[in-house]
Amino acid sequence: QIDPGSSRGGRTGALTPPPFADEVQKIDANPPKGTRDFPPEDMRLRSWLFHNFREVSRLFGFEEVDFPVLESEALFIRKAGEEIRDQLYCFEDRGNRRVALRPELTPSLARLVIQKGKSAPLPLKWFAIGQCWRYERMTRGRRREHYQWNMDIIGVPEVTAEAELISSTISFFKRIGVTASDVGFKVSSRKVLQEVLMSYSVPEDSFGRVCVIIDKIGKIPVEEIKKDLKHAGMSEVAVEDLLQVLSIKSLEKLEEILGDSGEAISDLRQLFSLAEKFGYSEWIQFDASVVRGLAYYTGIVFEGFDREGKLRAICGGGRYDKLLSTFGGDDLPACGFGFGDAVIVELLKEKGLLPKLDHQVENIVCALDSDLQGAAAAVATKLREKGQSVDLVLEGKPLKWVFKRAARINAQRLILVGLDEWQKGMVSVKILSSGEQYEVKLVELE
Ligand code: HAM
Repeated sequence: QIDPGSSRGGRTGALTPPPFADEVQKIDANPPKGTRDFPPEDMRLRSWLFHNFREVSRLFGFEEVDFPVLESEALFIRKAGEEIRDQLYCFEDRGNRRVALRPELTPSLARLVIQKGKSAPLPLKWFAIGQCWRYERMTRGRRREHYQWNMDIIGVPEVTAEAELISSTISFFKRIGVTASDVGFKVSSRKVLQEVLMSYSVPEDSFGRVCVIIDKIGKIPVEEIKKDLKHAGMSEVAVEDLLQVLSIKSLEKLEEILGDSGEAISDLRQLFSLAEKFGYSEWIQFDASVVRGLAYYTGIVFEGFDREGKLRAICGGGRYDKLLSTFGGDDLPACGFGFGDAVIVELLKEKGLLPKLDHQVENIVCALDSDLQGAAAAVATKLREKGQSVDLVLEGKPLKWVFKRAARINAQRLILVGLDEWQKGMVSVKILSSGEQYEVKLVELE
């Protein structure tokens, strides 16, 4: 017979560790690799970021939506060989359904648009802020979970939609102190590739796959890219021509090669002209090498990058007019972007632009006698009902401690509830910035 009490911790002579289920097991205090806790100081930064995401979305007239973090796995499975597919956190639930933690929000948005059907008045202008999961190799700003701010416009086929979306991300950058000399946007159109591929009769259904391969340029050796492109049905000449087109950095040069009649050129010209009207020309540049890694984009694609080239793309998006039909719905013109919470924080650190965000409570209320704890609670309630924040001292603490705490929480006023004043229906107020002190009637306390 083993005596449970005597064997705890294995220090009382037992030779083998006791097999009790309630035995204390020291856990790893860190969150799983690639994920984050948000202690108050980090949560303040996250809330500040999200507040700015929301404010910009509000300024552009967008409505907030949300979706479940857990979705059916099928929603994220596309055949184009995307990286995102291999990074999926997926499993079978207890009802034998294949499910996945979402790696992005766009497929959920498409699902909701299909579900709403014709009842949704177009255009939809939706934004969302949600946590996404990707089993990534971790680098700076690249994590296994991140929050993404998305803005999407459904139902507008014109480039005005892309111009509006780029304008909103630029508004965001400006709000948080980032300028056009810190960040730029590379813009292209997948129609450029489409026109090249069509001229070599590359089958249309390999288009997504070809884009995904091209997105790997710079990440894997070019010989491998060429091999993959040939596997996707492209001839050697087509591959060489395509790679040449991708190196073009000016619209004029592109026009020389593609001619001026195609949709790619006219879309891009319109976008650059709108950028001028919006007043953000200095932020954007044409770069044919931008295709983005997701298979569903069909037209204009763009990404925000730091001009020093130290970080991965800060945000990215584009037009995806054919996503809905891949889920069995009726296609609608659509475009949007995703903006992560991790890379932007790295950029703000680099530039010394992180905001100083302190914990702030307007009042600290303290009873000077334990018998007055109820009275202090009544004072706190009164102030809170008036919309003022109150840190109520809950234990009998010396005044020195209370002052220290007041400084730590950046309180503006210290309100002391003492017996003599309380009997007169008053409390003592100290303005902590000036040291000014006075007594005030409870009814007049604001
Ligand atoms: P994405 O380019 O895969 O696009 O991701 C958008 C942004 O999310 C990236 O630019 C980056 O800021 C952030 N991000 C992505 N993966 C990670 C990661 N592992 N760690 C940290 N941040 C990350 C999409 O997801 C599209 N669904 C965006 C979109 C919306 N397109 C149209 N509408």
